[in-house]
Amino acid sequence: AVKPEPAPVLLGFTAIAANRLDTVTVPAGYTARPFLPMGTPLLGSYPAYLADGSNSGSDMEQQVGAHHDGMHFFPLDARSSNTNSDEGVLVFNHEYLDANVLHPMGPTGLPRPADEVRKEVAAHGVTVAHIKKDAQGQFQLVQGSPLNRRITGATPMDITGPVRGDAKVVTKYSQDGTRTRGTLNNCGNGFTPWGTYLTCEENWAGYFMNADATQPREHQRYGVGRTNGRYYWETADSGADHYQRFNASSLGADASEDYRNEPNTFGWIVEIDPFNPDSVPQKRTALGRFGHEGVIFAPVVEGQPITVYSGDDSTFEYIYKYVSKAAYFKATAGGHLLNDGTLYVAKFNADGSGEWLALDINNQDLMAKAALAGVSFDSQADLLINTRLAADIAGATKMDRPEWGAVHPVTGEVYFTLTNNTSRKPEQIDAANPRASNATGHIIRWKENAATQGLSFNWDIFLLAGDVGTTTPGTNLTLTADNHMASPDGLCFSANGLLWIQTDMSGSQQGEGPYGNNQMLVADPVSRTIRRFFVGPVDAEVTGLAFTPDLKTMFVNVQHPGDRSTPTQFTSHWPANDGSSRPRSATVIITKDDGGVIGS
Ligand code: FEO
Ligand code: CA
Ligand code: CA
Ligand code: CA
Repeated sequence: AVKPEPAPVLLGFTAIAANRLDTVTVPAGYTARPFLPMGTPLLGSYPAYLADGSNSGSDMEQQVGAHHDGMHFFPLDARSSNTNSDEGVLVFNHEYLDANVLHPMGPTGLPRPADEVRKEVAAHGVTVAHIKKDAQGQFQLVQGSPLNRRITGATPMDITGPVRGDAKVVTKYSQDGTRTRGTLNNCGNGFTPWGTYLTCEENWAGYFMNADATQPREHQRYGVGRTNGRYYWETADSGADHYQRFNASSLGADASEDYRNEPNTFGWIVEIDPFNPDSVPQKRTALGRFGHEGVIFAPVVEGQPITVYSGDDSTFEYIYKYVSKAAYFKATAGGHLLNDGTLYVAKFNADGSGEWLALDINNQDLMAKAALAGVSFDSQADLLINTRLAADIAGATKMDRPEWGAVHPVTGEVYFTLTNNTSRKPEQIDAANPRASNATGHIIRWKENAATQGLSFNWDIFLLAGDVGTTTPGTNLTLTADNHMASPDGLCFSANGLLWIQTDMSGSQQGEGPYGNNQMLVADPVSRTIRRFFVGPVDAEVTGLAFTPDLKTMFVNVQHPGDRSTPTQFTSHWPANDGSSRPRSATVIITKDDGGVIGS
């Protein structure tokens, strides 16, 4: 089949300068409007947002959650012509929260009050918002729509794929190991060719504790704490066992009497049907268990397996791909394609070649290496629960924090952000991670080798991020004031082949230094022209992006504005500019004033 030519690449705007303003900045000729901030009434009794932080846990279950992250716009006709740019569902993640901003005076002491914890659990997860353009052409929430939905850290979910029913996911809540409650730390996202949303569980391990004398490897390797969860949810008493489950210590006679296995029900990619508000989210265990940042499909081909990429965002962790066992056919495509397949991990060789190493219990080479290391896996389920350990044994390449991936809509080239890794020592550098103490990150890319059925690939470094003057060896790219950047994170190709790059600087890099506030840039990957398109407000991350099919509306998320606030002093007031309001994470709608394509 002849592939369609890419649309002409457009980059007709003037780059904006880095800045530290407490607002969002876009190029001349564009307008940016905040939309659906944290606490927006979304469903049920539509409880109003209370500006003093006093909304209850029940309120938050009916409002837009906190810390907006990965996002996708599904046109109302997503499963047929996929052309409606006026009405659809906007689905976005809520990664975590800032208790200093969420509650009137920050978090109350220990034990945590049950309703504060209820509110925090509800601030996590996913929002599904039915939106439609009004008579003025501006998107608004459709009040009363049955499609509006909140998925939270408490929503019942099915465990599917090889781990379903395994002894290591048996809990007091699900004695046959088929269900769990909630999704947490939903960072990047994805979407399927069959019109469903994928949310990714990233830093879930920190929500749990396990004080047993010896933690099992499936807790230890992922960083489950010994003394407390990050928000001490396990200390709250709701009168039921909702919050005890964050204590994964062995308390009962066996796993069916406690929550020692609760952390094993996290670390997955979760599929959500955004058009069926009664659907039960499905945890897809065949895609592996790690700190999933995002998930991205290669273009599907009728009659061929699907290929899906996902990064594990932690220092010295890996990049993975999943290939389904069954072939994709448009007429029958669905979640079953995510339940049975092979998970691979990437090895980047110094000569620019790369290999995909199968993490399969039937891979004799892997099992021999495991035996040499004194490690055994009982089953594919056991291997998947311990994906990081299996990847260690396989000899994969330890990367500088893999964040989002993006696949070029025509060429199929895969790009991945490696956000930073200041822990890499000079003796630990390799060709794919070439900088010691890598504070600013880079973007790697590869092309699958068709001659090996995708078991190998060829890679290069697309961009080394950094200050003005940073050059990427072997290319014509030297960063300037128009495009210097640090800590690339969010990444997405628009359908016209433009690559959108979002930054997540934190700590001193976010608060001072040459880069200004976190931002979004856009690249023409062919010419390596890169221009700054968007700058976020103070102490905020820029993350999550989506387009309408006509590419004339862009949705971008602003996460954790003012994240160095105390309960009485806010470092940002965005989206307000009154000098007093609590900051609120929100989506931003960007349009071009002449009604044109974004980026043109
Ligand atoms: Fe939640 Fe890897 O950023
Ligand atoms: Ca991220
Ligand atoms: Ca990040
Ligand atoms: Ca974040």
